[in-house]
Amino acid sequence: KNKFFVAVMGAGSVGKSALTVQFTQGVFIDKYDPTVEDTYTKSFDLDGETVCIEVLDTAGSEVLVAMRELYMKNAEGFILVYSILVRSTFLEIKDIVEQLFRVKEEEEVPIVLVGNKIDLDAHREVPTNEGKSLASSYPNCDFWEASSKDRINVDNVFYSIVKRIKEK
Ligand code: GTP
Ligand code: MG
Repeated sequence: KNKFFVAVMGAGSVGKSALTVQFTQGVFIDKYDPTVEDTYTKSFDLDGETVCIEVLDTAGSEVLVAMRELYMKNAEGFILVYSILVRSTFLEIKDIVEQLFRVKEEEEVPIVLVGNKIDLDAHREVPTNEGKSLASSYPNCDFWEASSKDRINVDNVFYSIVKRIKEK
């Protein structure tokens, strides 16, 4: 198996699209253009093997719960993004994970939790250890703080989710 299907979820404006585009195309999108639904693919080398990832970039705000359920059913792994600048986006992660486990009906779902926008650390509302501790409360959940803007840990996020799906 070398094809992996991943969904990126989280509150509005946290940087889901910026993260996805930075990974798949190597550019930072400065302008905010709310997503409806977009798909991106990228092939890359992981541990000496070429893998192909299909990334579903979802809408943050006002997402239909029914749509979210469908995404959850279809994807194998989940990148859950919050902004370290906005606590409410961090709180929303818990609701998403709750729904995710309900929909998947599995004990283990590959997840990477991402605290984005660390280039704006001076305005931080969510400490690193809170993100870390939330991630460690779920099975098979990794944690990275990232900057889509400065391309910090962007590759690590996507490598990690593929590894988690592979090793599941
Ligand atoms: P929805 O599609 O509405 O759910 O939003 P989103 O989560 O896809 O957010 P998007 O990627 O569109 O980013 C929202 C705004 O934040 C844009 O203006 C981005 O340029 C900006 N942004 C995203 N990531 C970063 C980052 O790491 N650092 C900084 N400084 N800005 C960022
Ligand atoms: Mg978006």
